[in-house]
Amino acid sequence: MRVFVCKDYEDISGRASEEIAALIREKPTCVLGLATGSTPEGMYRKLCECYQAGELDFSGVRTVNLDEYYPISPENPQSYHSFMNRVLFERVNIRREQTYLPDGMAADANAACLDYERMIRELGGIDLQVLGIGQNGHIGFNEPGESLIPLTHKTALSENTVNANARFFQHMEDVPRYALTMGMKTILSARRILVLANGKSKASAVAAMLSGRVTTSCPASFLNLHDDVTLFCDRDALSAMETSGDKETL
Ligand code: PGA
Repeated sequence: MRVFVCKDYEDISGRASEEIAALIREKPTCVLGLATGSTPEGMYRKLCECYQAGELDFSGVRTVNLDEYYPISPENPQSYHSFMNRVLFERVNIRREQTYLPDGMAADANAACLDYERMIRELGGIDLQVLGIGQNGHIGFNEPGESLIPLTHKTALSENTVNANARFFQHMEDVPRYALTMGMKTILSARRILVLANGKSKASAVAAMLSGRVTTSCPASFLNLHDDVTLFCDRDALSAMETSGDKETL
């Protein structure tokens, strides 16, 4: 894994958006794997700025998102469909029919997950997958546990994740308990992976990811099995490494 220590959140967002912009210029019909959450918001803002400056054309780009709550309507402002519309899709010239997220309204969640895998295959696979990392080391909604699931599936969210998501909902009982998420193999099949992490709340997850071990207690550690992963992070996100004296291993 290549690790770039960035000055601050703006720097992380800038570098990540430059990677994506370079890919879109090189391959205008690329398949981008996208993530939601607070971390990539700055990256989306910068991509929109590039588009508004006339420097980027999204008309051929296809996107597949990592996950969506379940059940949730795409019109719900807290759905990941709504999030992606707000931060990117409504603001650039992407063709909406070329953007895909798991179907949070599917009557049959398992069938929707199989369809999602088939759709990714038919697109030719993911060229570059963007990931945030959960405080508990999850990627997508692949939560720490005794085992991990390879393909897109319905999953129960961990208590830690439910609590981390609570800030977006008015009442605790509104916070979704399930999601549809790409699985570990889906993510690891992407040709390139970009991980973004900032802030002290991510420090222990980042330290576990970079510990050199692969363990289901930190799903992000499975990224060590992939040949082309880049981490853009700030010093706070690395602080658990620094205090343990492991910084040289970067
Ligand atoms: P965050 O979430 O970007 O809102 O911190 C990341 C994640 O949980 O994967």
